[in-house]
Amino acid sequence: MTVLVTGGAGFIGANVAHRLLQDGEDVRILDDLSRAGVERNVAWLREVHGKSFELVVGDVRDAATVGRAVEDVDHVFHFAAQVAVTTSLTDPHLDFSVNGLGALNVLESVRRSRRRPSILYTSTNKVYGALDDISLESQRTRYAPIDRDVAARGISEQRPLEFHSPYGCSKGTADQYVLDYARSFGVRAAVFRMSCIYGPRQFGTEDQGWVAHFLIRALRGESITIYGDGKQVRDLLFVDDLVDALLRARSRIDSISGRAFNVGGGPSNTLSLLELCERIGRLTRPPRLAFEGWRQADQRYYVSNTNALVSALDWRPTVDVHDGIGRLFEWLAEQPENRSPRATYVQASP
Ligand SMILES: NC(=O)c1ccc[n+]([C@@H]2O[C@H](COP(=O)([O-])OP(=O)(O)OC[C@H]3O[C@@H](n4cnc5c(N)ncnc54)[C@H](O)[C@@H]3O)[C@@H](O)[C@H]2O)c1
Repeated sequence: MTVLVTGGAGFIGANVAHRLLQDGEDVRILDDLSRAGVERNVAWLREVHGKSFELVVGDVRDAATVGRAVEDVDHVFHFAAQVAVTTSLTDPHLDFSVNGLGALNVLESVRRSRRRPSILYTSTNKVYGALDDISLESQRTRYAPIDRDVAARGISEQRPLEFHSPYGCSKGTADQYVLDYARSFGVRAAVFRMSCIYGPRQFGTEDQGWVAHFLIRALRGESITIYGDGKQVRDLLFVDDLVDALLRARSRIDSISGRAFNVGGGPSNTLSLLELCERIGRLTRPPRLAFEGWRQADQRYYVSNTNALVSALDWRPTVDVHDGIGRLFEWLAEQPENRSPRATYVQASP
């Protein structure tokens, strides 16, 4: 298969491209390399796979560039995005043009292509809003839902949409466009509404990629700022498990087309911010914490109910959150910029 990976230089895109190339597929990456650090993912892909993939340095906002990139492919993974809620609040126009118009450009190119490629789009849990109506109990290190069903299963796709933040709106817009292109034009398309994905090749910052960001700060002996009380909970999915799910979804696209799935590590792979900091304290020395006010659109509790995905794809996560954190920590510790003379490392253990 010939596959286009938009945002293929990014964290998820590079992991997907790597797997496809390992499997001998033809890969084209379209990325404007706007995210700091992602050129290193391209360098890594070149080191491992040589010239066997094509890199188009271009912007998804440019319809002609997107059209050329989509023309002769059989499948599109559309990952390219403005990924930070914070940036969306300071520059909503940029956010919408990349996430909304960019996705529409991809969909239109797919619709017009004679090869009628299939498409998978990565949306976000932010499309479900703040979830303020879910009653929570404040425990020592985390919030826990009082409703037993939510606690056991998480948030399902039945949850009404309520876009929060410009990022939530732009990603949610694209999410709905993708589903509608399946409905209105018969494009084979599906949506992954993703919680927190983490793993190697993630250059996390304070604005996006909190798990990697916390680990990087700790490795460098720098303090971590927590917005809110740190008891907010997310389910975490290791990137290799996500890649498995994406590839299964592609192979079953005819049966899942037109559907959106909540995707994450589920109720058995959750962590609060404070719990991640505790875990970091067992990997290296405990990080210093600073607390600031809550961030806009920050959910106190979001855990994916992945039952629909599990039954549609016959898939389940294989990497336990504690093992996965250890693996990401080890990868980050190997990166030269994280080797601080002040940092001390201990053996990774669960
Ligand atoms: N990582 C997560 O936890 C998570 C959670 C929910 C949804 N998502 C979604 O998954 C996708 C991939 O996320 P990621 O974590 O790999 O982010 P990332 O920032 O590492 O990757 C995004 C890539 O898109 C590229 N890009 C940005 N603007 C572009 C433009 N205008 N034209 C072309 N390329 C552009 C960037 O250079 C980057 O390489 C995004 O759509 C994101 O919204 C990620």
